[in-house]
Amino acid sequence: MRQSQTWRAALGEARVSLAAAGLSSAEVDARRLVEQASGFDGGELWAHLDDVVSHRAAAHLAQMVERRTAGVPLQYALGRWGFRQLDLFVDRRVLIPRPETEQVVEVALGELRRLAPGRSTTVVDLGTGSGAIALSVAVEEVTARVWGSDVSAEALAVARANLAGIGRPAGRVRLVEGDWFAALPPELAGAVDVVVTNPPYVAAGDDLPREVADWEPPAALVSGPTGLEHLLAIVEEAPRWLGRPGALVTELAPHQAGTVSTAARAAGFAHVEVRPDLAGRDRVLLARR
Ligand SMILES: C[S@@+](CC[C@H](N)C(=O)[O-])C[C@H]1O[C@@H](n2cnc3c(N)ncnc32)[C@H](O)[C@@H]1O
Repeated sequence: MRQSQTWRAALGEARVSLAAAGLSSAEVDARRLVEQASGFDGGELWAHLDDVVSHRAAAHLAQMVERRTAGVPLQYALGRWGFRQLDLFVDRRVLIPRPETEQVVEVALGELRRLAPGRSTTVVDLGTGSGAIALSVAVEEVTARVWGSDVSAEALAVARANLAGIGRPAGRVRLVEGDWFAALPPELAGAVDVVVTNPPYVAAGDDLPREVADWEPPAALVSGPTGLEHLLAIVEEAPRWLGRPGALVTELAPHQAGTVSTAARAAGFAHVEVRPDLAGRDRVLLARR
């Protein structure tokens, strides 16, 4: 970087480097990386384009651009990503939170408010990863006591870092390690209002975009030979942990909606429906008992 470079020039250089690496998203990515390095978000950046870049900020930007041109997903290069009201720390230990999962949270919150308006509630987020679902529920629903579980100690370390950033609602969240429901204390059996989860639901051998397959944790994506293994195990065991009334809310792939709905009815859920994501595809199973 030249001496006394402005943010305008740094933005231009970042855009050129990213485009030269073949990134079709060079324009947007350059802006996001410059926002992160400068600390100026959105429109604020445009008011500071002629400010001089500090040595430290330039080094930070150069490091992020280098990672992005090497193929690191934008979210990992930034080290953060927005999810509903949260600004989550993310790295390769966790799945990058997806927009469709924001819809899963929406359904879970709606269910919680329908089931138990005003009273204290218990919510379990299985496979919490970065903590996206568990922490969103805790922040957006003050009555909720939330358990977030994950089999990955590494993912839980990320969730813990994010928990430390949410302030007072953190007092209502517990993070526990273990295989699905086995991570929970036995006394929660029969006492959970809502189980919400975004488990791995990709089939081994399915084609994934390069950036996903190369960078995101396989255990957060792939379930087994059919992709249904974790979903079906959770559907089968959920009734033992839910109160009456209680609800299971799970993300799934559109082509899995029929099979998982059938499994939910077979597991004893009286009301089963599938809700769409914002693109209109079947994405969220809601099963009530
Ligand atoms: C698709 S990611 C979801 C992460 C986060 N909830 C989100 O929506 O962004 C699935 C998560 O389930 C966890 N997981 C995989 N197998 C598990 C198991 N047997 N028991 C508990 N968690 C598991 C993974 O470590 C990963 O964090």
